[in-house]
Amino acid sequence: MTQLKNDTFLRALLKEPVEYTPIWMMRQAGRYLPEYRATRARAGSFMGLCTSPDYATEVTLQPLERFPLDAAILFSDILTVPDAMGLGLYFAEGEGPKFERPLRDESAIRALSVPVLDKLQYVFDAVSSIRKALDGRVPLIGFSGSPFTLACYMIEGGGSDDFRNVKAMLYSRPELLHHILAVNAQTVTDYLNAQIDAGAQAVQIFDTWGGALSHAAYKEFSLAYMQRIVAGLKREADGRRVPVIVFTKNGGQWLEEIAAIGADCVGLDWTTDIGLARARVGDKVALQGNFDPNALFGSPAAIEAEAGRILTAYGQGSGHVFNLGHGISQHADPEHAAALVAAVHRLSRPFHQ
Ligand code: CP3
Repeated sequence: MTQLKNDTFLRALLKEPVEYTPIWMMRQAGRYLPEYRATRARAGSFMGLCTSPDYATEVTLQPLERFPLDAAILFSDILTVPDAMGLGLYFAEGEGPKFERPLRDESAIRALSVPVLDKLQYVFDAVSSIRKALDGRVPLIGFSGSPFTLACYMIEGGGSDDFRNVKAMLYSRPELLHHILAVNAQTVTDYLNAQIDAGAQAVQIFDTWGGALSHAAYKEFSLAYMQRIVAGLKREADGRRVPVIVFTKNGGQWLEEIAAIGADCVGLDWTTDIGLARARVGDKVALQGNFDPNALFGSPAAIEAEAGRILTAYGQGSGHVFNLGHGISQHADPEHAAALVAAVHRLSRPFHQ
């Protein structure tokens, strides 16, 4: 395997010394980039991008051509997993992701099983292809949705603002939800291990909706299953540790518990003060975040000031991977993203001397 030319991101995840704070942006390959929209038009659809290793490689590298980012993230989607389980993923124009066959009755839920991973071979092929194209430039992040976040889409059949079907099941038929979550946890474990085998050098679990739960429900229906996954992941490849990042959006109240499940790094959305978060988790984990993605709508000077505020709040030393607190908006100006990356690289150096 090619030697990594820039491993700052991996070192920061393990709290090893770095020269500056590394940065990548959630959803860094996406619609805010005109070149992404052009490739998507050629591919015909979003799923056309995901299922073609060549297109997936092309769009994964697009943000790296523009900005000196410290990591690449596999171009795919968390919902390819329930699609492989037979739920029938499709994207209705302007409506976001949907499933043809959401899990609504007991017999469909009981029939749910861990899919044959061959159905996701296009993802593993994309990982190998991206690693080859990166040629050691920066590390490649693999990812998956959390069991609970996947279950939200599987049960609701798409996005939701109240998760009424999920919560009806959680409170009245918890054993059915536990069955879905157990299948999802095993699937995600196998899926992430296969991404690591194909060349992913770090992995992130996206728990976008765990923060919509009560504390008790979060522990029982989201965190416990992420802990199961973390325990089942390969943590070394090519003689190097493969760090695991866990990101629960709106999980700022539960940081101590999230930090205790065995991951190397905890992702923060923008609502938590990163300095206070660091004091709470201590030496247990690194932290990733936590710039408000919509602060990119401010001026470049304001973006720089906000980046400086976050770097100062984290303070001296390694263990911080700079990121947005959630995915970049499709309306963001790429020039403003460039200003953020430059500001983080420049302003962070004094914190590592
Ligand atoms: O970060 C990256 O650059 C890697 C690619 C990535 C995508 N989705 C591409 C994508 C990643 C890591 C995801 C994760 C994902 N997908 C999550 C978890 C993180 C989060 O944002 O909360 C979730 C909940 C999904 C499900 C999903 N996929 C939604 C809700 C949507 C529609 C959102 C929108 O912006 O319209 C998608 C589609 C999607 N996934 C797009 C991209 C670039 C936009 C598709 C398009 O080109 O039209």
